[in-house]
Amino acid sequence: MLTLSDVRSGYGSTTVLHGVTLEVAAGETTVLLGRNGVGKSTLLRTIIGRLPLTRGSISLGDRELGGLPPHERARAGLAYVPQGRDIFPGLSVLENLRVAVAGTRRREWPARLERTLEEFPQLKPKVNAGGRSLSGGQQQILAIARALITDPRALLLDEPSEGIQPSIVVDIAGMLVAAARERGIAVLVAEQNLDFVGRVCASVNVIDKGTLVDRVAVGDLMTNEDLQHEYLGV
Ligand SMILES: Nc1ncnc2c1ncn2[C@@H]1O[C@H](COP(=O)(O)OP(=O)(O)OP(=O)(O)O)[C@@H](O)[C@H]1O
Ligand SMILES: [Mg+2]
Repeated sequence: MLTLSDVRSGYGSTTVLHGVTLEVAAGETTVLLGRNGVGKSTLLRTIIGRLPLTRGSISLGDRELGGLPPHERARAGLAYVPQGRDIFPGLSVLENLRVAVAGTRRREWPARLERTLEEFPQLKPKVNAGGRSLSGGQQQILAIARALITDPRALLLDEPSEGIQPSIVVDIAGMLVAAARERGIAVLVAEQNLDFVGRVCASVNVIDKGTLVDRVAVGDLMTNEDLQHEYLGV
């Protein structure tokens, strides 16, 4: 449902993405795997419109997004959880969620909040807690909840397992799989953590130097150290 076709972009005169073509299906979690500096965040930023597309196209359903500014892409149904989360530390959990849907009708808010707290029961006892007081894992869960409360058609996440303790990483993987399936949305995750990706999909798209270079089964990657070295630099 989210279709990237020959996506090229970069920073100023520096081209980082050299033509990425990828289909992110509804109801599934699709993984973009690659080591540091290969263009994962650049691709997600290009999809949401923070970086200009220099060639190619990005479409959501039958709607072309490539020429739209970020807020119109969000309105068309794209939600994004940036690397390092980026919740509002000075606002409570409830306020963080409310801000995300500030533009929607006031009477829709209670139903959205209820659904979100059912989906993320960990947040229930924390609704009045300040964002700053949450653990890294709780902040990541809040960031995901804040993206989903907007009721997107596609959700993009940039290294959601980074810096999160292993037990919460497992929880977050489960939440994404459930959200994709139950909401029928397309989920695209940029990651480097093999344990995490093995929990959300069977095979990953490998990006290197701004190009997709392989599609490989997670099981094969886990048992092949040479491949891990090549694709993840570990
Ligand atoms: N704001 C920027 N201005 C110029 N070049 C940038 C900028 N941000 C990233 N780059 C360059 O673009 C390339 C891709 O970076 P990007 O952040 O997309 O990689 P990444 O795969 O997300 O890496 P990481 O796993 O470390 O987050 C790198 O060469 C990087 O130096
Ligand atoms: Mg990155």
